[in-house]
Amino acid sequence: MIDKITLTLFTALIASIAQVNGLTHYPPSNTPNTDLNQVLNGTEAPGIYWSSNTPDSQYGQYNWCHMPHVRKSEYVVPSKEYELQYVEVIQRHHKRTPYASNTFFKEGIPWDCSQEGPYHHAKNANPDHTSQVVWQRQTGSQNPFEKKVGPGFVGSTCEFPSITSEGIDDALAHGQDIRGVYGDLLGFLPHSNEKEKYSFRVTSNVITSQTLGGFGKGLFPDLEEHTGWIQDDSYDSLKPALACKLRDTIGSQIANLSSEWGTHLNLTSELRERFNNVSGIEFNDTAGWSTSWDHPYDNMSAKQCHGKPLPCSTNNTAICIQQEDANTIYRLGNYEYAYRWRMSENSTLYSALTMGPWFIELQDHFKTKMEGTNPIKYAHNFAHDGSVAPVLGLLQHDEPLWPGMGSEVVFELYKKSKTNEYYIRVLFSGQPLKTSTPLGTLNMVPYSDFENYLKDTIPSNLVDLCK
Ligand SMILES: *[C@@H]1O[C@H](CO)[C@@H](O)[C@H](O)[C@H]1NC(C)=O
Ligand SMILES: *[C@@H]1O[C@H](CO)[C@@H](O)[C@H](O)[C@H]1NC(C)=O
Ligand SMILES: *[C@@H]1O[C@H](CO)[C@@H](O)[C@H](O)[C@H]1NC(C)=O
Ligand SMILES: *[C@@H]1O[C@H](CO)[C@@H](O)[C@H](O)[C@H]1NC(C)=O
Ligand SMILES: *[C@@H]1O[C@H](CO)[C@@H](O)[C@H](O)[C@H]1NC(C)=O
Ligand SMILES: *[C@@H]1O[C@H](CO)[C@@H](O)[C@H](O)[C@H]1NC(C)=O
Ligand SMILES: *[C@@H]1O[C@H](CO)[C@@H](O)[C@H](O)[C@H]1NC(C)=O
Ligand SMILES: *[C@@H]1O[C@H](CO)[C@@H](O)[C@H](O)[C@H]1NC(C)=O
Repeated sequence: MIDKITLTLFTALIASIAQVNGLTHYPPSNTPNTDLNQVLNGTEAPGIYWSSNTPDSQYGQYNWCHMPHVRKSEYVVPSKEYELQYVEVIQRHHKRTPYASNTFFKEGIPWDCSQEGPYHHAKNANPDHTSQVVWQRQTGSQNPFEKKVGPGFVGSTCEFPSITSEGIDDALAHGQDIRGVYGDLLGFLPHSNEKEKYSFRVTSNVITSQTLGGFGKGLFPDLEEHTGWIQDDSYDSLKPALACKLRDTIGSQIANLSSEWGTHLNLTSELRERFNNVSGIEFNDTAGWSTSWDHPYDNMSAKQCHGKPLPCSTNNTAICIQQEDANTIYRLGNYEYAYRWRMSENSTLYSALTMGPWFIELQDHFKTKMEGTNPIKYAHNFAHDGSVAPVLGLLQHDEPLWPGMGSEVVFELYKKSKTNEYYIRVLFSGQPLKTSTPLGTLNMVPYSDFENYLKDTIPSNLVDLCK
């Protein structure tokens, strides 16, 4: 009874959002990630999964381990009439160990972090009053409770999750590439000591700060320290961590096992059984191993991106995950992201409720820039797939995918010198983002059109809606 009433109210609410804001969902193109037949029938991985290195001739291609981003060699410099005013970047962190929750109870493949690990120290005003402290995970202890819990990484000294040494190298290269474009090529990037002209933002998840550590060294090699602005989890719009019941309700409708979401899972139950036979994870798990392909995908892609083998059963080393099954799981993961954030009818609203607050901040950065009151020229957000996917969802990316490691969206604000009018260019994977909306490819879109689109798409009463 209560459910029915709630549902009715909820439906009315949705209808009113749609009316007031004119939010329109434009479905994505038919692609190998959105066509379930191709996802199920294919044999190949949907990109590179075994190395951060993409050959120059193929740069721009999907690489889960290290997604393409702006670089001097591919960057298209707009014609001279457009003057760059402001750049804001949002990216996913770089490659990492798996999350503890995505590890099997007992892991046969170790992760060695003896040369790496997160810093945990505090500074005060006097630099002579502190030293740096790095964490190393302690395992193999006599603590009897250690054996009761996963992850059972035998002999591993890593924190889960953490950016790996190779991930830090990728972040460094990413910073160098951004410097190559906005510094060397365009002479736009502020100098490292002009701290009022650039800013970095991170989330409470350590892997975003770890990414900034590498990236910052690439962008400003002369600096030893960076400030990462961070919002409290109670209202953080970047992770995003803020609470929103309506967002969560729509999210669970989208991933409802009895609706369309369940179809790809039911059609892959045999694959699931083969996977479970290796992982030892039960069919009736409650940790989300079987309600999507997310955890198996993360478990295997993290290994493959670090040159580790696919897992075998720790009971019977003759039973291993085959590459073809891993490839299918990678296709299914991309399908799931495409479905959740772009294909499902409510995906645009879901995206707007998820990253709307961050877009409102972004719009304010543009607005104050145009008004001449924003000293920042370059802002960079270090975030997650759960941030980048809804950014692309809100903009209605035409060829949706699961944003891989280091996946980057760049917002560039330009002014046309003759007319003093402002334009937006949005780059994804280093190139102008193709959307399914009437704005088309976001390449020098008049700012007012961009603003109108956001106004139509992001509910104006977000705080009330999220109660
Ligand atoms: C989208 O959300 C509305 C409101 O809850 C709901 O009535 C509708 O069934 C949802 N659509 C899908 C495909 O889940
Ligand atoms: C996928 O395979 C099934 C069963 O073999 C077949 O019926 C279907 O036509 C195939 N789809 C595509 C797109 O190849
Ligand atoms: C991945 O899954 C395998 C079993 O398939 C398990 O042994 C391992 O602990 C998991 N590893 C990670 C890093 O998630
Ligand atoms: C999932 O779908 C079923 C069948 O349409 C429906 O009864 C149930 O309420 C839905 N659950 C959620 C969380 O939307
Ligand atoms: C998938 O299978 C489960 C369990 O048999 C069932 O409850 C669910 O409705 C099915 N989903 C779809 C979309 O067929
Ligand atoms: C999983 O393992 C069981 C027990 O060894 C076996 O009977 C079953 O055929 C396996 N399933 C698959 C899909 O390989
Ligand atoms: C390994 O064997 C143990 C004990 O029989 C069992 O509980 C566990 O599920 C098995 N693991 C796998 C991956 O089959
Ligand atoms: C299923 O879940 C229950 C309760 O969490 C657990 O006791 C059981 O071991 C799980 N596995 C199977 C195969 O029932």
